[in-house]
Parts: sequence; structure tokens; C-alpha cells
Amino acid sequence: MNKKIILALESSCDETACAILIDDELVANVISSQIEVHQKYGGVMPEIASRLHLENVLVVIDEALKKANISMDDVTAIAVTRGPGLIGALHVGLQAAKTLALIYNKPLIPVHHLAGHIYANEFVKKLEFPLLAVVVSGGNTELVYMKEHLSFDVIGQTKDDAIGESFDKVARVLGLPYPGGVAIDKLAKEGKHTYKLPEPLKDGTLDLSYSGLKTAVINLVHKLEQNNEEINVPNMAKSFQDVAIKELLDKVALATELHQDVKQIVLAGGVSANSYLREQIVKQYENTDISVIIPPIWCTTDNAAMIAKVGSYLYDQNIFADLSLSVDPNWKIEDYKNFK
Ligand code: KG4
Repeated sequence: MNKKIILALESSCDETACAILIDDELVANVISSQIEVHQKYGGVMPEIASRLHLENVLVVIDEALKKANISMDDVTAIAVTRGPGLIGALHVGLQAAKTLALIYNKPLIPVHHLAGHIYANEFVKKLEFPLLAVVVSGGNTELVYMKEHLSFDVIGQTKDDAIGESFDKVARVLGLPYPGGVAIDKLAKEGKHTYKLPEPLKDGTLDLSYSGLKTAVINLVHKLEQNNEEINVPNMAKSFQDVAIKELLDKVALATELHQDVKQIVLAGGVSANSYLREQIVKQYENTDISVIIPPIWCTTDNAAMIAKVGSYLYDQNIFADLSLSVDPNWKIEDYKNFK
């Protein structure tokens, strides 16, 4: 039988990546990160991101093919991140994928970036349904109920800022480097919860909110500065992180109360690297029937292995796009089958 070889491309934000799965085994996972360039600006500069993707996309494809010891002719299908993400950045990956699909006459598989983060957990353990995916990144905060493979039902989401965005803004006001979540996580370990911040929303719904908390920290920092009072940065980081993570954990608890058939919880997205979140969510579900999967750190940042993983499932379901496919920077996960 012919092997199923999926080549995947990811370029939605600040990582240009290519991965290859041969019969679902990861044989190449090449990532070119732009993070050091963007750090100088305190955040991702979209225009620079697009240019760097353009410089790097062919390099990562070549390297992945070499690592896998195959040529483009051997590839069965090409999977690519179609959204959500930065429009210019997404275009580079999609144009590369479409060009390869056209030249080598290969099927094209459009993949949702957040589905990728959810499926990254399959590199640890098979997904078991129904599951609850806690999708927490710089641009998204969503609780996604999945009754089976490729079925995504958003049961709760942020009403305003994403959790990662609030980590980044709070870090910036505290003078910490980008990406702020990493710096806050590290400093919080040395700090104590001493600053009083607004308690998480208790409205009985599964929706979340992070803008009030973010603004409260920013206002408090400004007030302390105006009064010439010293700010204990580790304590501020710990106080903020405690409240931000508690808000999420409370809503996850409510979600599993309302959806008692959930067998597994998976973490997904950049904020799932947060060590306090990882520790607390495992604690919350120990001695219960729900198992928690914690993705390895390399899966919490953008990569193409996770895109290949979803691509492989979509391939099995014959979900392909034609060459008129365009990017969708705001693609909703529930709409992943609509890609005109
Ligand atoms: O998923 P991701 O790489 O990018 C988006 O597509 O949004 O997530 C990036 C976000 C940033 O907001 C970053 O500050 C946050 O993930 N992040 C963390 C940690 N590591 C990265 N937040 C909290 N704790 C961390 N250890």
C-alpha cells in the first residue's frame, strides 16, 4: 500500500514552519522563528513578519524534505494553515502551498490554526471524546467541546481581550520583554500574591473576560508610579497571574459541570506553556474520571507538525480545497469546512 505522506506549512504569525508526517509518524519538523527580530519592537510587526516568511518559506520546505529523505513527488497531500492569523503572513504560506500543489499536482488541505494547537496533543496521547479543549493564546481564549474528531463547538469564549494579550500588556507596563507571558510566568515564581485585583467574573456563563483585569493592573501600576511608590514586579506578576489563571480554571470547572460526558481535557495555544496553569489544571482534575493532557512545550508554540496532524485527519475525510482558496485571518473554528 502507498504511504500517506503529508507535507504541512505554517506561517500564521512569527514562525515559518514545515513538517512532514509519513503514515502519521513525524519525520521532519522544521521551524524558523522570528521572535528575536520582533522582540526589538515589543511585539510582532506584521509587515516584517510577512517579509521574513517570504525569505524563509522555501528554506524550511527544502530542509524538511531533506530530513524526511523524500522529494516533492513522494508527497501525498499538502496541508497549510489558512487562518486565523496575520493576513500577510498567512498569504505567504498559502501561496507557497498552492504553487507546490499546482506544480506537483497534489491535493491541498486547508487547516485551522487552533485545530492544529488542539491536535498537537496527539503527539502525547490519542484524543478521547467527548473532550474539552482549552484554547489559550495571544489572540484567542476559547473553550471548545469536541464530540468527535474534527467537530468543534465553541461553548465559551472571551468577551474582550485574549488571555495571552492581557499577559503581554501587563508585562509591557511592568517593563518586561515580549512575549510577556514567558516573563510573567518566570517572575511569578519568585513573587507573592500581595496586590489586590478584581476577582474573576462569576456570571454563571462559560464566557471569560480579561480586559477589566488588564486595565486594573495598568491603573494600579500608574497610580503607584505617580505616588512614587516602589512596585514589586514579581509580586505584581504573581498577583496578576493568579487571578488570570483562576478565571480560566473556574470556567473550565463550570464547563465540565455542565458537560458531564467530558472524558479528557486538552490544553492548546501559547498560554498553555504557563507553568502555574499546567500545575493547577492537573490538580483540579486529579482523583476524577477526567484525564488532562498537557502538550509538550514545543507544541505550545507555532509549528507545522500540528498542522500536518489535522491535515492527516482531513485527508482521511476527503476534505480538500481547490486552487482558488484564499486565507481567512478571522476564520472561526466551527466553520472549518467552509473555505471558499
Ligand atoms: O499561540 P501563540 O504562540 O500565538 C498566537 O497565535 O496568539 O501564543 C502567544 C501567547 C503570547 O501572548 C505569550 O505571551 C503567551 O502566549 N505565552 C505565555 C507563556 N508562554 C507564552 N503566557 C503565559 N505563560 C507562559 N509561559
